[in-house]
Amino acid sequence: MKAIGRVLCATGIVAGLIAFFWKDPFTPESLSGARVLLTGASAGIGEQMAYHYARFGAEIVLTARREAVLQKVMEKCLTLGAKKIFYIPADMSSPSEPEKVVQFAVQKLGGLDYLVLNHIGMTHFQMWTGDVEYTRWLMQVNFFSYVALTTAALPTLEKNRGSLVVVSSLTASFLVVSILSFSFPGKIPTPFTTSYSATKFALDGFFSSLRHELIMQKRNVSITLCILGLIDTDTALQNTRGKVHISASPAPEAALAIIRGGATRVQEVFYPWWLQQLCCLWVLFPSNRGQVLRSYYNYSSP
Ligand SMILES: NC(=O)c1ccc[n+]([C@@H]2O[C@H](COP(=O)([O-])OP(=O)(O)OC[C@H]3O[C@@H](n4cnc5c(N)ncnc54)[C@H](OP(=O)(O)O)[C@@H]3O)[C@@H](O)[C@H]2O)c1
Repeated sequence: MKAIGRVLCATGIVAGLIAFFWKDPFTPESLSGARVLLTGASAGIGEQMAYHYARFGAEIVLTARREAVLQKVMEKCLTLGAKKIFYIPADMSSPSEPEKVVQFAVQKLGGLDYLVLNHIGMTHFQMWTGDVEYTRWLMQVNFFSYVALTTAALPTLEKNRGSLVVVSSLTASFLVVSILSFSFPGKIPTPFTTSYSATKFALDGFFSSLRHELIMQKRNVSITLCILGLIDTDTALQNTRGKVHISASPAPEAALAIIRGGATRVQEVFYPWWLQQLCCLWVLFPSNRGQVLRSYYNYSSP
C-alpha cells in the first residue's frame, strides 16, 4: 500500500473509533423540570430557545418588552410540553427592571437553574455616526442589564449549582486559539458594528473574569459564553441585507447549540462550528486579513 493510502486508512480507523466510543454529553432529560429564566424570548434566537426548552419539559420564565408577543410564545410553549411557563414584560434599558424580573422568576419557579442572557437593544448596522448617547443606551441594554440580572440571580444559581448562559457574537469576541501547545489571542472585529461590538466585548471581559472568580471561590455556577456567526433572525437579515456577503445559519439550530452548551456546562460555544477554525485562520494568517474581511462588506464612499 502506498504511504498516502496508509495515512488515509489510519485516519479512517481513528475517526471510526472516535465515532464508536464518543458519547454525547448532552442528555435532554437533564432539562426536564429545569427552571429557566430566558431574556429576549419574544423573537429570533430567544423565541427558538423557548420552544426547545419547552420540548425538553423545562419550567420557564420568558421576558422581553412586547407583552402580546410573549403571550403567543408562552401559548406555543405550553403546546410543546413546557412543565410551567410564565412571562414578564420588561424593558432592560430601565436599570430597575433586571432585579424585578429575577425576583418574579424566583417567586414563580421557586429558584433558578439557568439564567439565559440573550436580549439586545435595537442595533444599527451602519458606519459610526458619532451618536454617543445611543452607545450609552445600548451599553445599558446589552451590558449593564446582563450584569444586574446576573448579580440578582447568583445566589439562587449557586444554591442550585446552576448555569449562566451568555449570548455573544463573533463580531466582538476576543478568543484564545490553541494550536498544538501554543495559545494565540485573536479577535475578529467587523465594520458597521461599533457600539454593538463594544457591548459584546464588555460582556466577554466581565463574564470571563467572573468565571475565574467563581472557580477561585469554589462557587459551583458555570458560565457559558456563546459565540455566534450571522443567524437568520428577522432583525439580523433586515440589518445586513445588501450590506454583507455572508450566508446566515438557521436560528433553531443556533438556539439548540446554546442550550446544549449551557446544559453541558462548557465555557464556550461556537455556532456554526467552523467559526473556531475561522478564528485559527485569522490568527495564523495576519497579513491582509482585514482587507479580505472588508471585501465581504458593501460600502461605496459618498
Ligand atoms: N442574529 C444574528 O445574526 C446574531 C449573530 C451573533 C450574535 N447574536 C446574538 O444573539 C442574541 C439574539 O439575537 P437575535 O438576532 O435573536 O435578536 P432579535 O431577533 O432582535 O431579538 C431580540 C430580543 O430582545 C428583545 N429586546 C429588544 N430590546 C429590548 C429591551 N430594551 N429590553 C428587553 N428586551 C429587549 C426583543 O423583544 P422585544 O422587542 O419584545 O423587547 C427580542 O425578544 C443577541 O444577544 C445577539 O447579539 C445574533
